[in-house]
Amino acid sequence: MLRTHTCGELNINHVNQHVTLSGWVQKSRDLGGMTFIDLRDFYGITQLAFNMETNDQLCEKARTLGREYVIQISGKVIERENKNPNIPTGEIEILVEELTILNTSKTPPFTIEDETDGGEELRMKYRYLDLRRNPLKKNLRLRHQVSHAVRSYLDELGFTEVETPYLIKSTPEGARDFVVPSRMHPGEFYALPQSPQTFKQLLMVAGYDRYYQIVKCFRDEDLRADRQPEFTQIDCEMSFITQEDILDVFGGMVKHLFKTVKGIELDEIPLLPYSEAMRLYGSDKPDTRFDMTFVELNDVAQGKGFKVFDSVELIVGINAKGCANYSRKQLDALTDFVKRPQVGANGLVYVKYNEDGTFKSSVDKFFTQEDLQQWADKMQAQPGDLLLVLAGEKDKTRKQLNELRLEMGTRLGLRNPNEYKVLWVTDFPLLEWDEDTNRWYAMHHPFTAPKPEDIEKLNTHKGEVRANAYDLVINGVEIGGGSIRIHDRTLQEKMFEVLGFSKEEAEKQFGFLMGAFEYGAPPHGGIAFGFDRLCAVLAGSDSIRDFIAFPKNNAGRDMMIDAPDTISQEQLDELGLMLKK
Ligand code: AMO
Repeated sequence: MLRTHTCGELNINHVNQHVTLSGWVQKSRDLGGMTFIDLRDFYGITQLAFNMETNDQLCEKARTLGREYVIQISGKVIERENKNPNIPTGEIEILVEELTILNTSKTPPFTIEDETDGGEELRMKYRYLDLRRNPLKKNLRLRHQVSHAVRSYLDELGFTEVETPYLIKSTPEGARDFVVPSRMHPGEFYALPQSPQTFKQLLMVAGYDRYYQIVKCFRDEDLRADRQPEFTQIDCEMSFITQEDILDVFGGMVKHLFKTVKGIELDEIPLLPYSEAMRLYGSDKPDTRFDMTFVELNDVAQGKGFKVFDSVELIVGINAKGCANYSRKQLDALTDFVKRPQVGANGLVYVKYNEDGTFKSSVDKFFTQEDLQQWADKMQAQPGDLLLVLAGEKDKTRKQLNELRLEMGTRLGLRNPNEYKVLWVTDFPLLEWDEDTNRWYAMHHPFTAPKPEDIEKLNTHKGEVRANAYDLVINGVEIGGGSIRIHDRTLQEKMFEVLGFSKEEAEKQFGFLMGAFEYGAPPHGGIAFGFDRLCAVLAGSDSIRDFIAFPKNNAGRDMMIDAPDTISQEQLDELGLMLKK
């Protein structure tokens, strides 16, 4: 080995030992008689000391070293005069006796420090340099710990990790597929899996009744901080189970992860039915670190002559505690916030419940003090609180108020990244209607089973059919989702029919699965967790990019290798592809 120790492990107990270290030059300080160098490797930083008086040649050589040079040194561990309590090696330094330059380095385009001066794009282009920085090292170590803890938890419960293919055909999870042209079958394409959904179900038919896989998935969709075109799932499936069993096993896994990785004991994970989540938070992934739940006001706010309210489907508000002192400017900013196209409300009604017990509202013309007292009572408001109210079509208004609630949570500092609120959202609707395409879509995916008691409604009240589907939500982020599956050919055919597939289309795309159901498919169900999201949430971060070694940018590009890229005419010809001019 080119070292006896790492740069993170030497301390006062090693004083007088002769050691060899290898690493990168983080920085050097030339103090005339002495030159000090911080030597960095994956494990930490150790200070090197070169003494001009005792070894001037070596000291001169040390002064030629640039940032990020790779060196090997040997020397004696000595106690430092000026100790640094902030790092584990801060009590010692190495008095260097030998120095070998293993490689030189160009000056890096940004500083390799915890707080760097490099912009995001530049850091993505030189990702291998960015990855040298501590924050990213910490993130990738956390990722490793999470995967390790997942594997040991599931192994303990008898799960088998099975790999499934990447060159498959389309599985409809709601996004576009990335496709791969086939050279041997011109005009035909593989699709990269959006998830291993159909394969894990086939493994259940095959009798591998506790499967998992930490697996790459590919989705060609618009990117955001919590979405990458290729991302990783902890994908799981079990047979002969009920929804309760799945929530037990995988709630247990989440608790195990918090315990082993964060040292946090989570309480029992609460269940919240989808309909309640929508009514109380206007979201199927509510951030429950703070209350501010919705209160519906139709019965006290309609019929008072305020036209905007009288004809609408829903009037709903939140109580921003202690915000009655908001200035005109602050209220205008909130109104602007809800009117942004991304939120889409027409306006915002506010009611200040003043400390003296009076009300001041934006609708004083239409509502008396007694009327507003009724609103305040419904919303359990106290003097000093601010009521924020939106009105309109039910689903849209709830979504808008959800945005406002989250914004208020952020403004009031109620979304503490070091606090964790975990919950299961259950009983999702099976289907959702899409106005643009005029058809029903599977809310989760087409393999999700309806609740047995709702199957009849598939013919009559499709929108009311509930599914045995569940999501795991942490701090307002959807971390995982799954369902009990259909395992019967007839019901699966019926589902495809409801989704507007012809018999032929369903057979062409999913004949293999429905065929397998005819060979003794057991009742089964499962879940997949977004592994990158889980790591980000555990670290209190919103961006999954920082938890992926080599991520894509927001335009789906790998800035470092510059992909996607064109291919040669020869390759195109071989694949039988012609580019549109
Ligand atoms: P679903 O589509 O809900 O379910 O995906 C499961 C989890 O994967 C994460 N996720 C993503 N993470 C990063 N970037 C993306 N583009 C992205 N898309 C999804 C989310 C999500 O909760 N086959 C089903 C699971 C099942 O039914 O068992 C599925 O893929 O955290």
